[in-house]
This record gives sequence, structure tokens and C-alpha cells, in this order.
Amino acid sequence: MAFFFLWIVTSSGLYLYTVLDTSIAGVYESIDWLTNQQWYLGGVLRSLHRYASDAFILTTLLHLVREWAFGRYYGFRLYSWVTGVPLLWLMFFSGIGGYWIVWDRLAQFSAVASTELLDWLPIFSTPAARNFLTPDAISDRFFTVLVFIHLGVPLLLILGLWAHVHRISRIDHFPARRLALGTLVALLVLALARPAVSDAPADLSIVATGLRLDWFILFIHPLADFTSPGFIWTLLLGGTILLFILPLLPHPAPKPVAVVDAPNCNGCSRCLVDCPYAAVTMEPHPDKPGHKIAIVDADLCASCGICAGSCPSSTPFRSQEALVTGIDMPQLPVSVLRRSLEEKISRLEGTTRIVVFGCDCGANVKSVESTDTAVMSLICAGMLPPSFVEYALRGGADGVMVVGCREGGCEYRLGDRWTAERLTRQREPRLRHNVPVGRLCLAHGSSHDSATLAKELRQFRIRLETQAAERPLPYHRRSASS
Ligand code: HEM
Repeated sequence: MAFFFLWIVTSSGLYLYTVLDTSIAGVYESIDWLTNQQWYLGGVLRSLHRYASDAFILTTLLHLVREWAFGRYYGFRLYSWVTGVPLLWLMFFSGIGGYWIVWDRLAQFSAVASTELLDWLPIFSTPAARNFLTPDAISDRFFTVLVFIHLGVPLLLILGLWAHVHRISRIDHFPARRLALGTLVALLVLALARPAVSDAPADLSIVATGLRLDWFILFIHPLADFTSPGFIWTLLLGGTILLFILPLLPHPAPKPVAVVDAPNCNGCSRCLVDCPYAAVTMEPHPDKPGHKIAIVDADLCASCGICAGSCPSSTPFRSQEALVTGIDMPQLPVSVLRRSLEEKISRLEGTTRIVVFGCDCGANVKSVESTDTAVMSLICAGMLPPSFVEYALRGGADGVMVVGCREGGCEYRLGDRWTAERLTRQREPRLRHNVPVGRLCLAHGSSHDSATLAKELRQFRIRLETQAAERPLPYHRRSASS
């Protein structure tokens, strides 16, 4: 959403720039003309520019709080976190600079208040606020510099954003179409109902009062009035330092990363395509001329196991005593998964036996374990090779339930999505067509959703029992090891 708002800000800003007169005499009037004479285009775009900027700031701050609340700032996420922090400064610089360009009373107030804040720091030999003491202290050059800053800083922001996300694969630069359209319509309604307007023209011979503040961007000024410049700088610099050092504080030890087994890697690149953190690259295979091999970058690897779920050799149907797959997780290898599944199925009792595959980050599947329900918690639901579903059904289970994190909340970004696509046969490795979909249930839930999970499991069991009564189950029940 933050990206979407930024695209709106950028495209509306480009139009506004084309009609902006960057002279001290003309700037206010050119914006006033846009707002009042060309309200149907320039006015609407000005309002979109303003409201989308506010929304950009709001969604970015929510994103920051969310990542922090989930503890997503250390280990393989350190890079994303550290590159995110300077974006906050660039974002507010861009916003405050934007208000100055209008050169109305609000701009005057913000310019004076900002320079007073700057003057508290021992940077300038003469106070910068003096530049706004008299009307003739402001020149056309000041405005040219201002416009340059208001274009340059957002450009830096976009560059910083590129750095922020370039180590993450498959970024959604746009939200889903309906969400994007709905949001755009909401912004347009706001733009028409409450168009962005200027205050009276700036007049440095008087003190600006009675202003309509934008609390998303300009809150810093009343806060400085209410407290002191020293407090504001401590807050800003202290907050920034705190954000930077947060990833360096003690955290849980990193988990073992994915390991490639050269003889079993056929260079198909599925792990590269599915890795949410671009930790896999392909290089020439050392033993198989003309083939490639997956290489894991330990610094980028999130230890999620999604690559093991994507590997075509992760199939439990392979008749190896010790199943070795092309890419695997040392802490939960596919061979252990198969053995554990066989053991659990052999212990199942009751008329409708269900295997539940869950993930360590989502709903606690252990809460639904019982004599007729075997549960297996994976590192991420995306670690489940679809062939395990068929293996469980052929091994004696009547149904298989796969539980991922809450929808849209996958701890490893794409695990839920890939699992759903593989099980609905839209993505390799696909669930084979001979597996009856009625015997499979996909569910979602966070660690707080145990009750919902139990309810979904009950409903799935009823569905399976109704199906079994209507027509015979396609697989014979037999032990998994036979
Ligand atoms: C300036 C606006 C920002 C935008 C548009 C933005 C955008 C994004 C996007 C699109 C992702 C990938 C999310 C996903 O697909 O799961 C991401 C990841 C991330 N961002 Fe930002 N971000 C911004 C600012 C920040 C800030 C200020 C911080 C924190 C200081 C931050 C911290 C992170 C972290 C830690 C991740 C990694 C999440 C993960 O690995 O699951 N971002 N950001």
C-alpha cells in the first residue's frame, strides 16, 4: 500500500511540477490557479498528492510498527531493517519540503519553525532563521533550490526504497486491483469533498497564526512548541540510533540454513524461483557437465524450508532407505518428515483419520492432536512437498489438512501462497491430479487461532464422513510402510 501511495504521489507530483512557477512572485499564484481555475484536474491532482503523501507516511509507520512487533529486524532481515531507517528521514524531509513550496502562511510557519529547530544545533555560524526575518530576505533562487530539494529528496527516497527491497524477491509493487481501485476512489472522493487549499500568501512582516496543520507531516512543529528543540532532537536522533541498534541487541541464535546435496540437485531452479529472500542462485554443477546446481547464500537464507518444499526430489515415494533430497533443512530433513509421517499414520485409530500439516509460526496444530488426528509442524507450510499429501492418503489417512499462517501474514512472506498454488495445481511441484481434492483442506491461522483450527478440523471431518458415505474412498487404507 505504501508503494501504491508513493506512485500516486509521484505521478500527481510530476503534473504539478509542470505548471509550477518557481519564482517568488509566481509560485503562490500558480498553485492557486491550479486549485481554483483548474480544480477538475490540477486541483484534484494537488489534493491527491497531499492525501496520498499522508497515507504513504501512515502506511509506512504501520509497516515499521508491524515489522518491529513481529520481531522482524535481526538476522537475515537486518539489511531490510537498516535500509528502512533512513527512509523515515527522507519521507519527512520530502513532506515538509512539499509544504514550503506552496509559500503560503503555513509554509512560512513551517520554514521558520524548521530553521529555528536547526539553529538549536551547532551547525550554522549565523542563525538560519534570519533568512525569514524580512520579506526581501527570500529570493527566487531560494525557491529554485526548494523545488530541487522537493524533487531530489523523493528521488533519493525511491532509490533508497529500491535498496530496501532489492534483496527480497517478488515484491508486490501494487496492491490487488480491487484494493487499488477502491483506495483510489476513496482518495478522489476526499479530494473532491475536501480539496487541498492554500492559506493566505506568505507575509514575512507578520507572524502566521490560525493555521490548518497537516498532522501527519507537520506534527513536529507543535511538538517543538509544546516541548523544546532539545527534546525534539533527542527524540529524533535518539529514536534513529535506537532503530539502528535494535538489530544488534541479543536475539535468538540463527537457525541452520538450507543445504544443497550435489548428487540430488538437478539444477531445475525451482528453489531459486520460490525463495522469498533471493538466497538461492544457480551455478554450473561441479559433477554434471551442462547442468546447474543451487547455491545458498547463508546470509540471506531465512531457514524457512520453502526450497525443500519446491524441490522435485523431495518426494516420499522415492524408494531410498534414507531419503536425500536436492535441497534440505538440517533441522528437519525431508527423510525425517517421511519417517515421522509413517510412524504417526501407523498409530492413528478411528473411522476418519486425518493428518494435519501445520507450521511453527501459525496456529498451534499440536492443540488438535488426538488418536484419530496426527499432526506435524513444519518450519513453514511452504516446506511441505505436495507429494506428502498423496503419501499420507495412500498410507492410510482419510484426509489431509494443511494449515498456514493467517492469510497475508506468512512469517516467510510467500510460504502460504506457494503452498496454496502447489496444492491447487497452479505451481510446480503440483499435487498430482489423481489426488481427490475433497480429501484435502487448506486452512489458515495464527498462534491465537487454536479454537478456529479445531472448528475447521471438525467441519472437515464431517465433510469427509459425508463423502465416504456417498461414494467409496479412492485409496485403499493400508500402512504407509507397505
Ligand atoms: C518508506 C517506505 C517503505 C516502504 C514502501 C517499504 C516497503 C517494503 C516492502 C514492499 C517490503 C517487502 C514486504 C513483503 O513483501 O513481505 C518491505 C520489507 C521490510 N521492511 Fe520496509 N518499507 C518502507 C520502510 C521501512 C522502514 C522505515 C522499516 C524499518 C525501519 C522497514 C523495515 C522492513 C523490514 C524489516 C522488512 C523485511 C520483512 C520480511 O523480511 O518479512 N521498512 N518493506
